[in-house]
Parts: sequence; structure tokens; C-alpha cells
Amino acid sequence: PEAPAPTPASTVSQYACQRRTTTENYNKIFTDAFEVLAESYEFNEIEGPCLAFRRAASVLKSLPWAVQRLGATEDLPCLGDHSKAVMEEILQYGRSFEVEKVLSDERYQTLKLFTSVFGVGPKTGEKWYRRGLRSFSDILAEPSIQLNRMQQSGFLHYGDISRAVSKAEAQALGNIIDEAVRAITPDAVLALTGGFRRGKEFGHDVDFIVTTTEQGKEKRLLTSLIDQLKEQGILLFCDHQASTFDMSKLPSHRFEAMDHFAKCFLILRLEGSQVVGGLHGAEGDGRGWRAVRVDLVSPPIDRYAFALLGWTGSRQFERDLRRFARTERRMLLDNHALFDKTK
Ligand code: CTP
Ligand code: MN
Ligand code: MN
Ligand code: MN
Repeated sequence: PEAPAPTPASTVSQYACQRRTTTENYNKIFTDAFEVLAESYEFNEIEGPCLAFRRAASVLKSLPWAVQRLGATEDLPCLGDHSKAVMEEILQYGRSFEVEKVLSDERYQTLKLFTSVFGVGPKTGEKWYRRGLRSFSDILAEPSIQLNRMQQSGFLHYGDISRAVSKAEAQALGNIIDEAVRAITPDAVLALTGGFRRGKEFGHDVDFIVTTTEQGKEKRLLTSLIDQLKEQGILLFCDHQASTFDMSKLPSHRFEAMDHFAKCFLILRLEGSQVVGGLHGAEGDGRGWRAVRVDLVSPPIDRYAFALLGWTGSRQFERDLRRFARTERRMLLDNHALFDKTK
């Protein structure tokens, strides 16, 4: 007999920010399938179904029980006919034929491979695919292709940065950055954010917010920090974007994927002594170090709460938090501020 569902489907909110969600996913067979389909729509620039599958996956991830029959999904929000058809296939046959078709599709496979390189997005991946390129060696052997600095680093450190980062590695990097910012200024503020702040065991990178308790002093912090890391010999790549933040120009009404804070996308060298065991370290190749992707964002201290909220994720949580603010509260939320539209 089926155990009673501790969370009735009818009480699940359509907003991710109102769904208590643990890192335990009881519906991985479904959510993995949805992610493949969402990605495939993304590669084809079909936004609606892409977001619909991501929303559906987010709902299933919040359930403290595994869906064992389609009837159990009846009262759940955000599950459309297409999502349910995929679930039905999986419940009946243990796999989805639609997903298998995508996974064996040459275009999907190639774009998946190309966009796995740091600095290569769907646009560039698509361009290379249309030129008949199918593998990394195709790209590297093509004389007419000019890789930018980011892509060059992406290929150079491909093995390391496509390997998951462990929580222990994230903590080790946190210590390195903490020491570096404290040497620059005693009033430095450092916070681990992104997936590790949400309690994930592994991530694709490590995200930090760095600032100072004295407003305005953060302006030189990021460049000083980069200099520090360079001096230590652990800076393998740095793409630094200066702040374009201007409080008087807010709120911005058009959608922006990026906030205006100073930030940098880095690749750092993490020494082996700090790489703690397991399958995900760099051991075995005898080097004693690995490359790790690190993101740093540096808001002024009076924007700290909004930046921290915005960089904690998940992507779906952030999306729904903004949608909740807009629709349910008539407010505008972004990484910089929260505005009351009636004032
Ligand atoms: N973010 C953002 N603007 C960006 C990039 C990221 O606001 N240009 C925010 C997003 O809300 C995202 C969070 O920062 O959720 C962290 O981004 P990312 O590192 O890409 O995702 P994680 O959730 O940390 O997942 P992973 O473990 O794969 O790194
Ligand atoms: Mn991250
Ligand atoms: Mn803007
Ligand atoms: Mn990141």
C-alpha cells in the first residue's frame, strides 16, 4: 500500500518562493527528463515550453514524496499536458521515448558539448554547429575560428572546471578569499552564496559576495582582491566587469539578466593539500592542484541584502520571487532593490 502523502498536492504553491524545498529530490527520474527537454527547447530558442518544463521540474523537486501514479499529480500546479505525458511514459516504461530521441539527436549532443565550455553560450554553439563542426578537435583545428580569452581558458581548463566542486573545496576557497580580503581591509564582508549557500554538496562553481561595511569603500575592493590573487599565483583567468550601478537610474523596467554591480568571473588554482578526498578531486593525475570556477560580486553595503538574495538562487526561486513581488504585491524586485509600484 502507498504511504499517505505528507504534503497534499492541492496545497503546493505555483511560486517556488512559497515552496519549502530540501536538497533531497524524490522525483529525479522525472526532473532529469524535464531538464533534457527544457535544454533542447533552449537550444532551439523556444522559450515557452523551456520555462514550462523548468517550472514543472521545480514543483516536483519540492515534493517530499515520489510520484508513483499520474493521479497523484492532479492537483499540482505548473504541470501541463506535455509534462504529464512525459511522466506517464516514465511511469509506464521506466523511460521517456521523447527524451531518448533528444539525447540521440546530433544537434542536441553537439550543442550540449559546445556549451559545456566556459565562455561558449547557445549563440556561439549554434554558429559552430551550423558551420559543420561537431567536436572540440573540429573547433581547435578550424583556422578561421578566433576563440576569445574566456573560451581559450575554457578549453585549457576544460577537464578541471567540468568536474563538480565539492563543499570542502568551496570552503577551502572561502578561506583563501577571506584571508585575502581581510589583508586589504579589516571591515571586509564576505558571504558564500549560490548553490553552496542553499546547502548543495556539489556545484559547477563557487559564488561569493564581497564588500565593506563602509559605504563606497567597496569600489577598490575587487581590483585589490584580484591583484592579491595574482600575486599569490593562483589567478588562472579573470574577466572583471566594473560597476555600472546608479541608484538614481532605478528601477529599470526592462528585464535584465545581469545586475549592475562590479563582478568578476574567475578561474582559480586550488592547491591539492586543500582538495579533500573523494571522486571529485584532482587526485590520480599526480598534479596536486585543480582549477575551479569562482564568481565574485561586489555591491555597496546598502544593497547587500538584495544582492545576497539575488545571488543565492536557485534560478527558478529568483524568477518566482520577482513574479510573486510583481503579481501578488505590485512591487518590483531585482538584485538591487525592492520598489513599491504605487509609490
Ligand atoms: N545570478 C545572477 N546573475 C547572473 C548570474 C547568476 O543574478 N548573471 C544569480 C542567480 O540567481 C543564480 C546565482 O546567482 O541562482 C548563482 O548562479 P550560478 O552559479 O550560475 O548557479 P548556482 O545556483 O550556484 O548553481 P551551481 O551549483 O551550478 O553553480
Ligand atoms: Mn554557483
Ligand atoms: Mn540597466
Ligand atoms: Mn556562478
